[in-house]
Amino acid sequence: MNSGIIIAPSILAADFGDLSAEVDKVEKAGADWIHLDVMDGNFVPNISFGAPVISALRKSSSSYFDAHLMVSNPELLITDMKQAGCNGITVHYEACNHLDRVLSVIDDHDCCAGVALNPHTGVENLSQVLDKIGLILIMTVNPGFGGQKFISTMLNKVQLARKLIGDRPIQLQVDGGITAQTASLAVAAGANNLVAGSAIFGAGQEQYESRIKSIRGN
Ligand code: DX5
Ligand code: ZN
Repeated sequence: MNSGIIIAPSILAADFGDLSAEVDKVEKAGADWIHLDVMDGNFVPNISFGAPVISALRKSSSSYFDAHLMVSNPELLITDMKQAGCNGITVHYEACNHLDRVLSVIDDHDCCAGVALNPHTGVENLSQVLDKIGLILIMTVNPGFGGQKFISTMLNKVQLARKLIGDRPIQLQVDGGITAQTASLAVAAGANNLVAGSAIFGAGQEQYESRIKSIRGN
């Protein structure tokens, strides 16, 4: 069904008054993962939600929960995220003074360790920790808000990341401004994991399935 591409809807663009139902709807519409954007009002200007909300969603979902921590000092949240039911925990390179240690802590919690790179951060910064990473997230907008325009110069960084990964079992995720059009460019550049918020939840629920299909490229 999905030719190896993972579609991870970001619930940041969902109806916050009815989140469990929104998760259920995108799961039924073909979502592979659920992308959870945790924002602290410090690393990024916006505040979204944290472990209590994720824990509540976990009660009615068995999907893979992909937490994207846009927070300062992410090491302080890892245990909470694990206990809330997250399967993958992605931290920002720019938020970690001791990235190698943070990745070990995520691994100790039996979660897949991801590292996100802001648009200004080069992928070569990850070369010394590749063996500790299960996911590289190339931000294709500056983090903090949904609904922004895809930064097309990031496609070159996706290509560089794909080369750096080589044959390692590392997911290459893109996040920000992903639509059917930008998704196909990102996949052509080497991405295999696509986060999309407004391109899915911005439509009525009757369109979730067709939106997911078109982002997947079918
Ligand atoms: C941005 C978040 C994204 C965001 C994507 O800071 O990390 O996951 O929700 O939203 P869209 O798809 O609307 O750009
Ligand atoms: Zn995200």
